[in-house]
Amino acid sequence: MKVTAELAELRNQIKAWKAKGETVAFVPTMGNLHQGHLSLVTTALKHADHVVASIYVNPLQFAAHEDLDSYPKTLNADLEALKEVGTALVFTPTTDLIYPKGPENSTKVIVPEDVIGNCGESESRPHFFIGVATVVLKLFNMVQPDVAVFGQKDYQQLAIIKNMVKDLDLPIHIIGVDTYRESNGLAMSSRNNYLTTKQRETAAAIKQTLDWFIKEVQGGVIIDTAIEHAKASLIAEGLTPDYLIVRHADTLQEVTPEDKSLVVLAAAWLGKARLIDNECFQRK
Ligand code: PAJ
Repeated sequence: MKVTAELAELRNQIKAWKAKGETVAFVPTMGNLHQGHLSLVTTALKHADHVVASIYVNPLQFAAHEDLDSYPKTLNADLEALKEVGTALVFTPTTDLIYPKGPENSTKVIVPEDVIGNCGESESRPHFFIGVATVVLKLFNMVQPDVAVFGQKDYQQLAIIKNMVKDLDLPIHIIGVDTYRESNGLAMSSRNNYLTTKQRETAAAIKQTLDWFIKEVQGGVIIDTAIEHAKASLIAEGLTPDYLIVRHADTLQEVTPEDKSLVVLAAAWLGKARLIDNECFQRK
């Protein structure tokens, strides 16, 4: 497995593969890898000859008060794990390479609000999707992959990337991968490292609450009532809900009475961690 922070080296390798008619799948990450990230690489390998992963903690997607400085960094373990699952190349750019003029002085991608429903993460973290779209577009231009793989766990992120690819005519096929979970249902996340062992058990309540919420709605409880029940249940379990919303699964727009294909999206605080999760479901 090659590891490089140099754009020229990355491009030379990609060029050599493409000259042989071989394809490239790309898995962007911020490091501190867990099984969820590795499952993206495993999926990527099914769709291309070579997998390139990147590890870069993107300052542009963190607000000043957020956890950029404390974001967990475990490069050696990450490289070991990526090698084990068959990654061919890991790109580890510096901020000088990604944002030579500094993150704030770089050209940015504006994400139209109505695409992501102006809800959930885009409402709670307004800076976030400009930062994500900008860095992902830059990484796409650097790697020029045939395929790129993202987790469903970050449901709105996947939606804005699919939309950006369409709007900007990028010749990249985007693949979404199911959320990888701990045995108690907690969605794996680098931010779970902020939790104590006991809090990790408490955090399982998010997935349980989403499942329970879906059963209620499918059983005929009106959505607003089920949302109130679900939020109360999270609070009773010791979590502090940020949002719990239901949207059309594809458009992320507000639910109309005709919509059957829905997604419930939740974010909640537990100790130092802000956890997110979601589930798609069909309404009868
Ligand atoms: P990061 O949080 O490191 O996640 C990298 C990729 O792993 C994303 O596509 C994310 O959805 C996926 N992922 C995380 N947890 C997962 C889980 N439990 N199961 C399946 N997939 C999971 O998302 C980012 O980084 C950044 O925003 C990035 C796209 C790299 C841009 O900076």
